[in-house]
Amino acid sequence: MTARQRPRRKRIHLAAQVPGVDNTSRPWIEFASFEHLARTAERGLFDFLLLADGLRPREHEGRIDGVDVVGRPEPLTVLGALAAVTDRLGLAATVDATFNEPYELARRLATLDHLSGGRAGWNVVTSSDAFTGENFRRGGHPDRSERFSRAAEFVAVARELWDSWTPDGVSRPFAHRGRHFDIAGEFTVPRPPQGHPVVLQAGDSEEGRESAAATADVMFTRHGTLEDGRAFYADVKKRLEKYGRTPDDLRIMPAVTVVLGATVAEARERAAGIRRQQISPQQALRTLERIWGVDLSSYDPDGPLPEIDPVPEPAIAQGRPRHGDSVAVAEKWRALSKEKGLSIRQTVIEAGCGRPSFIGTPEAVAAELDACVRRDAADGFVLVPHLTPGGLDEFVDRVVPLLQERGAFRTEYEGATLRSHLGLSGPAGKG
Ligand SMILES: Cc1cc2nc3c(=O)[nH]c(=O)nc-3n(C[C@H](O)[C@H](O)[C@H](O)COP(=O)(O)O)c2cc1C
Repeated sequence: MTARQRPRRKRIHLAAQVPGVDNTSRPWIEFASFEHLARTAERGLFDFLLLADGLRPREHEGRIDGVDVVGRPEPLTVLGALAAVTDRLGLAATVDATFNEPYELARRLATLDHLSGGRAGWNVVTSSDAFTGENFRRGGHPDRSERFSRAAEFVAVARELWDSWTPDGVSRPFAHRGRHFDIAGEFTVPRPPQGHPVVLQAGDSEEGRESAAATADVMFTRHGTLEDGRAFYADVKKRLEKYGRTPDDLRIMPAVTVVLGATVAEARERAAGIRRQQISPQQALRTLERIWGVDLSSYDPDGPLPEIDPVPEPAIAQGRPRHGDSVAVAEKWRALSKEKGLSIRQTVIEAGCGRPSFIGTPEAVAAELDACVRRDAADGFVLVPHLTPGGLDEFVDRVVPLLQERGAFRTEYEGATLRSHLGLSGPAGKG
């Protein structure tokens, strides 16, 4: 078989995420922290760096959550600065489609795409609670289907605006009349180098999956284990056809964490150590309160889990995405605690950070990541370092070379734009 005939080996796409807030290290307001992570991701030949976002500090029982007091800078501004200290790395901002306007945001994204030479990405989110809505003039909070419908039209309008300039620099008037937006005029920024900046979508629900299949270039998910990932991947990829797209038009990239060690036992001990550091006795009770939805401060973190059931719609914590049915999570945690004889704090530590973790030697982690991609559980991964800003260094130094040796990852950037790193040929279909 000649090289030309051999089926192309499925390569891994890698990205890094700056967690919105983080309780283990320096505040995420210092440029040096962002710069370190971006330069490390670029040294590792990653496709992009993604900045998460939230539009209001999270609260717990009416007070700002301890780890949120460091604040959250605005992602597109940070990425504008990072464009100046990187050459190839894609720069993706999480920007909400519920409280922004298409003209303004399309303009800012097009500008970032020009300034960075075609490296801009937009992670479209819809804001999951009314608490965030209070921050904005309009107040209130549209319901879920309204938010998704606005987001879909928002992406379509942004693309119309980017398309309103021809590739050879001629601006044409645009006019969009839709359910959510009724705008007409001329766009201020020439067509972005990528045509359309890359659109990412983070969601899990039926609406989230459908909207990614219809409009996104990259889907950011929490389904990162082999079996769970395979089911999610197959489900989302099969939805593309009805939008006139092929499965290869969308990259599915779960958020994962990696903890390395010289032996599996050492890696496991490090992972447990990180969790112990992150989950103080007070943090353990707060985590439980977010699920149970009631004040549990009289409980002993070193004692057993509460016998009482959670309230159905816990509202004790504001501004955090919810991860499933609280009664089911409580049952699962009680079973875990019973099976292993764990206290409240030990159960929270054992239950993990909510994201899939790859824990082991660099060789084992490289093999596992490669297997997930080759077996269609993912197209790649968004690494969320436990420790910031230095948490990515070890992965880049020790795992990336092994992935390269396996032929699973690039050894140099082949193109200049984020779209080309992702192996996407042109702008995604009409939104
Ligand atoms: C992996 C992942 C990361 C997310 N990151 C953010 C974020 O940084 N900011 C935000 O406002 N929402 C974030 N979200 C929330 C989603 O964008 C979306 O609004 C929410 O998940 C509701 O959609 P769903 O019901 O389809 O999941 C994230 C969701 C997922 C799955």
